[in-house]
Amino acid sequence: MKKTSYKELGLVNTKAMFAKAVKGGYAIPAFNFNTMEQMQAIVQAAVETKSPVIMQVSKGARKYANPTILRYMAQGAVEYAKELGCKKPQIVLHLDHGDSFETCKSCIDSGFSSVMIDGSSLPYDENVKLTKKVVAYAHKQKDYVTVEAELGVLAGVEDEVQAEESHYTKPEEVIDFVSKTGCDSLAISIGTSHGAYKFKPEQCTRDPKTGKLIPPPLAFDVLKAIEKKLPGFPIVLHGSSSVPQDEVDTINKFGGKLPDAVGIPEEQLRKAAKSAVCKINIDSDSRLAMTAAVRQHFAEHPEHFDPRQYLTPARDNMKKMYVHKIMKVLGSNDKL
Ligand code: 13P
Repeated sequence: MKKTSYKELGLVNTKAMFAKAVKGGYAIPAFNFNTMEQMQAIVQAAVETKSPVIMQVSKGARKYANPTILRYMAQGAVEYAKELGCKKPQIVLHLDHGDSFETCKSCIDSGFSSVMIDGSSLPYDENVKLTKKVVAYAHKQKDYVTVEAELGVLAGVEDEVQAEESHYTKPEEVIDFVSKTGCDSLAISIGTSHGAYKFKPEQCTRDPKTGKLIPPPLAFDVLKAIEKKLPGFPIVLHGSSSVPQDEVDTINKFGGKLPDAVGIPEEQLRKAAKSAVCKINIDSDSRLAMTAAVRQHFAEHPEHFDPRQYLTPARDNMKKMYVHKIMKVLGSNDKL
């Protein structure tokens, strides 16, 4: 694939976007995507709410969609945003959970404007070494590519990223890590986790009326301690889907089986977005919105077999969710 700079695709990096978000007390949405419908819904929502947006892909998504197609999808996203009336869209194409220098390099060379190198499962010194190497490559590009790093381990499953045990980020390590690596933002672990089952029932209490799980609160004391060590430095929250119970109920009503699926309450994300947390990652909520709409559609229209018939409500439902997150949770609307 020919080496391409993200600027040729009309994309931006996260640098100015994050600085503004930290100052303004809001967070930029980082929505994962694999399909055209997700991409269209993300762009529609961002344009409608006048929000900057990060479209992110994991290594698994890149494999699923094909790296070449993805690059043109990102370029298409920018052009589509303009067509929808946004004069200067601020769209980032970001690699989520890059697992090696080679993956990050390949993404940078193919037009990503931002990459994450996730060395969080490595011993501290190895995480520093790997992150530093990616940062050196990303920052020496003609157009500066931003790098997200991670300290602390999140539980849960996401594509190829899996961890049984989580441990919180140690605030005493963050200054050393950021200054040694030169990363542009830092993903931390304060109790969020990947997927639609963020907490085991034994970690939660149960609502006596609805029988639904009530998750434990995030470790805001850890976040506060990190902010104190790194004033104004951009912090990232992974695993931040709320797992909306109406979508879970729709899925279960129409033949699905997601018992005790539980996420991070939006109230806590609202609170995080007002702090130095300036990027909030949401993937599972989009999967749930899509699946709920498709399941309901098939149950109500068993005679349908044209993908457009069931993917149109799926796309609309995802867009509704994205707009809600932007306007009612992260507060990134009207920030272009
Ligand atoms: P969720 O599974 O909570 O959507 O998290 C997504 C994520 O953190 C992507 O990196």
